[in-house]
Amino acid sequence: MIVTIDGVAASGKSSVASGVARALHVPYLSSGLLYRAATWAALQHGLPLDTPEAEGPLLDLLHAQTQAGTPLDLRPLPEGNQVWQAGRDISEALHTAEVDAHVSAAAVLPGLREWVNAQLRALTPPFLAEGRDMGSTVFPHADHKFYLHASARVRAERRVKERAQDVDSVEAALKLRDERDVRQSAPAPDAIHIDTGSGTLPEIIAQVLAHLPA
Ligand code: C5P
Repeated sequence: MIVTIDGVAASGKSSVASGVARALHVPYLSSGLLYRAATWAALQHGLPLDTPEAEGPLLDLLHAQTQAGTPLDLRPLPEGNQVWQAGRDISEALHTAEVDAHVSAAAVLPGLREWVNAQLRALTPPFLAEGRDMGSTVFPHADHKFYLHASARVRAERRVKERAQDVDSVEAALKLRDERDVRQSAPAPDAIHIDTGSGTLPEIIAQVLAHLPA
């Protein structure tokens, strides 16, 4: 069984996906974390990301890391996804404002999308995949698909609880990321839409589970 949970930035996807996956006793895969990890690696190496020419050097870097036995390694643990590299958990470095600001530029590079998608498709179901295009592109034959949304204000208010930032600038940055992500954020036509703006996390998880076989 494959379940997909897609949605806009800071819509609560990871928390909902993690709760639903735990209830189903399956792992969840955060595709966004792979995009973040590749973006982080590019920034570490001073690679520019804002032009189509960025793709070649970025893919070369990812390939070289794999060849050297130090690939970006997504670990879909039940308590939360992690990315490890060279024996080090780099997950915390992936949720900075700097990675937030560059990840959408990296995510439009077709070669990077193929790199992420190939890693996800190599995994054996059952699992729950979380991201932007899991139901529309990566797993179009998934058994159950969900799309989460909420207003930019609600999402910004949620995010400032996690990071010491001002709500107006977070809201503006989220809107900008929404605009850049829109190409890969289109919901699958058969996805069930859920507004995460009202209701507690356990209520939203229960709403999703209500659509799934017991
Ligand atoms: O889900 P999260 O906000 O961590 O994703 C980070 C970024 O990765 C998104 O803003 C988007 O640019 C990109 N992404 C994507 N497709 C996915 C998941 C994430 O383009 N399936």
